[in-house]
Amino acid sequence: MEEIAVTTTSPDGAERIEQRKKVTTRTFQLKKDRGEPITMLTAYDYGMALAVDRAGIDSILVGDSLGMVVLGYEDTLPVTMEDMLHHCRAVARGAQYALLVGDMPFMSYQVSVEQAVANAGRFLQGAGMDAVKLEGGRERVEAVEAIVSAGIPVMGHIGLTPQSVNVFGGFRTQGKSAEAARRLLEDAILLQDAGCFSLVLEAIPWRLGELISQRLQIPTIGIGAGAGCDGQVLVIHDLLGFFDRFTPRFAEQYADLHAEIGRALTGFKEDVQAGLFPNEKHTFSMPDEEWQRLVESLD
Ligand code: KIV
Repeated sequence: MEEIAVTTTSPDGAERIEQRKKVTTRTFQLKKDRGEPITMLTAYDYGMALAVDRAGIDSILVGDSLGMVVLGYEDTLPVTMEDMLHHCRAVARGAQYALLVGDMPFMSYQVSVEQAVANAGRFLQGAGMDAVKLEGGRERVEAVEAIVSAGIPVMGHIGLTPQSVNVFGGFRTQGKSAEAARRLLEDAILLQDAGCFSLVLEAIPWRLGELISQRLQIPTIGIGAGAGCDGQVLVIHDLLGFFDRFTPRFAEQYADLHAEIGRALTGFKEDVQAGLFPNEKHTFSMPDEEWQRLVESLD
């Protein structure tokens, strides 16, 4: 893809022109090798994907977190392949530069390696994704190897893997004992050796996040895993203050969209009730003579 200039806006409102190329898995590796932090956010629809892409974020994850923040489920378990592909297509229409990663939903890769490869393929064939993500450690090595051999880049995900919430007995920090931490480090190395191009580390102690990142050649992307990871990902609804149920401790809220949207909706309601909306600028006119003809034609 040719390089083009993109305007990005920093938090202080300053605009910068950047030359941009499509981000690939190679870009991820180059960034790690150069010590440049990788940025990743979730997005689930066209408009949000456009905004994330324009902000110059390296990668968009169409996460199965959409089950909670978009579809209103209690957890990510009810999310289906069809849900995921529907949202992936919308995101792919909005994003041009970010590396697009589609999250494989619960039971789409656990039953058999053949099913894992076939489902992974659907994210790239027809849903516009560049890579897939799946959860789990050593028990996923065979599936990762098979998906990668089919030519599909895989991002691993260990630590607090939300699809295993019932095994963990809740959304809990993982890897807090020496044994559990060592097991996660081993899982990370096994997933790297199986061919993952990158690894999400979720809700683990920061020292473990740093250790795994130092021991791996591939980039780690942390979410609640500390600043020692090679990149950071957040669920966009947490960042924007647009999820009403909770904001995880590891998320930073950069906006309060709930309050902002509430203000806008109340404004609309009050204006309609007060007869202030719509006004002249929102309405259409027709030529006087046409109006006259209409009136005369009525009995
Ligand atoms: O589904 C998701 O949004 C994720 C991130 C939390 C990494 O898996």
